[in-house]
Amino acid sequence: MNYVLGIDLSTTATKAVLVAEDGLVAAVGVSEYDSQAPQPLWSEQDPATWWQAARAAIHSALDTADATGEEVLGVGLTGQMHGLTLLDSDDQVLRPAILWNDQRTSAECDEIRRRVGADRLIAITGNDALTGFTAPKLLWVRNHEPELYERAAQALLPKDYLRLKLTGDHATDKAGAGGTILFDLAARDWSPEVLKALDIDRGLLPATYEGPAVTGTVSTVAAAATGLATGTPVVAGGGDQAAGAVGTGAVTEGVVSLSLGTSGVVFMTTDAPRSEPAGRLHAFPHAVPGRWHLMGVMLSAGGSLRWFRDAFTPGAEYGDLTNRAEKVDAGADGVTFLPYLSGERTPHPDPMARGAFVGLTVRHSLDHLTRAVLEGVAFGLKDGLDLMTEYGAGRPRQIRASGGGIRSGLWRQILADVMNTEIAIVTTTEGAAYGAAMLAAVGVGWHADVDAATEAWVSIEHVTIPGPNAERYGELHRRFQMLYPALQSWFREV
Ligand code: XUL
Repeated sequence: MNYVLGIDLSTTATKAVLVAEDGLVAAVGVSEYDSQAPQPLWSEQDPATWWQAARAAIHSALDTADATGEEVLGVGLTGQMHGLTLLDSDDQVLRPAILWNDQRTSAECDEIRRRVGADRLIAITGNDALTGFTAPKLLWVRNHEPELYERAAQALLPKDYLRLKLTGDHATDKAGAGGTILFDLAARDWSPEVLKALDIDRGLLPATYEGPAVTGTVSTVAAAATGLATGTPVVAGGGDQAAGAVGTGAVTEGVVSLSLGTSGVVFMTTDAPRSEPAGRLHAFPHAVPGRWHLMGVMLSAGGSLRWFRDAFTPGAEYGDLTNRAEKVDAGADGVTFLPYLSGERTPHPDPMARGAFVGLTVRHSLDHLTRAVLEGVAFGLKDGLDLMTEYGAGRPRQIRASGGGIRSGLWRQILADVMNTEIAIVTTTEGAAYGAAMLAAVGVGWHADVDAATEAWVSIEHVTIPGPNAERYGELHRRFQMLYPALQSWFREV
């Protein structure tokens, strides 16, 4: 058999997905790990655990499929974006990696806006400085651990540390590089202007490649450690959102990807570099060569429903909750839920935003509140979609949904109604790792390009079309949008 292997180095586990030439998943290997919060707002991981987990996941996938390393013709990498892995000149790790969900860098974000100019930063990189991104983390190390920064020779994203262990090369993909905000969005390369303004040495940063491009081959040492064959090509891959979009076939203008996990992400491909002038959307290169994407990130999407269940109906099944919500009409009889339980990124980049139930009366029951949670998450995601429609590629003709939340038929219908767009579920369910495998399949020549790969491998399993509630939800969404501005000063006060 011939296979490609997609590896997703996520925040909670490393997953290796072995895919056969017909696009079918032959085996999945997973190895989990924790992250550490040595101080409030911090989030770190030891890169050594990634390498250990990747080895275990690769071995497990090969064993499950009873495959040899020689049968794996290419490897694609994806993973958590924005994290900072600092190495010395011998490629030794200098400190625990600082992850995408670490919030310590507010002061450095201000420093970046001051040094580059807030408008200029968005004009060049497509993005405002957010605590999650990589550049503020690099400045934080320089400001707080200067002796360490002095010794730094390379700054790599998490999945590119894995690439280094596999191939010995310092390299990254364009989509991931965009997420550092040291990147020129239109030029698809590091920005000399931003690097100069921030006084960051270009030599700290790896070479950048388009998603399906081969960045190196598996070394003899890595072959012995993983079971892969020496010389196996490794392609650039992409950040988890870009690779996930490839995995569901959301690679052209008009097809939006929506992922409803703990967080919720709406992702729109664009044929040209586009950004939202106030930086309320993320704008990065796509893992598809010559394309870009806009992205809106809601921090508590499925996480809102999980919180609600744990707080009010502990132990209940999600199906019990959606049955409750089903009993109530659209609009939850006037109750609105604001889903900003962990602060928010899109469309309100505000760590102080908070969740709320607004409009309660004595008539309301748990059923209404449950429906309000499902609707509030959909409204928040619609905010991101509306910004992308305005500043990206116009109204999408289809949304491809993935993640645990979309298993609920009711939530899918609410989303289709609120977005007023059909929601498709595709047959490929291994997310970003599958997209990385697809990029490897293009890289080794199985498909002419990413479009051909998605046409061959991704098909639609189910479509939910907007129903009679769509018009009413348009009005309810307008009312939802009135709440954040009304409450913003109160959030600050408390
Ligand atoms: C994207 C983002 C997350 C991380 C973790 O901007 O922050 O998707 O990549 O998965």
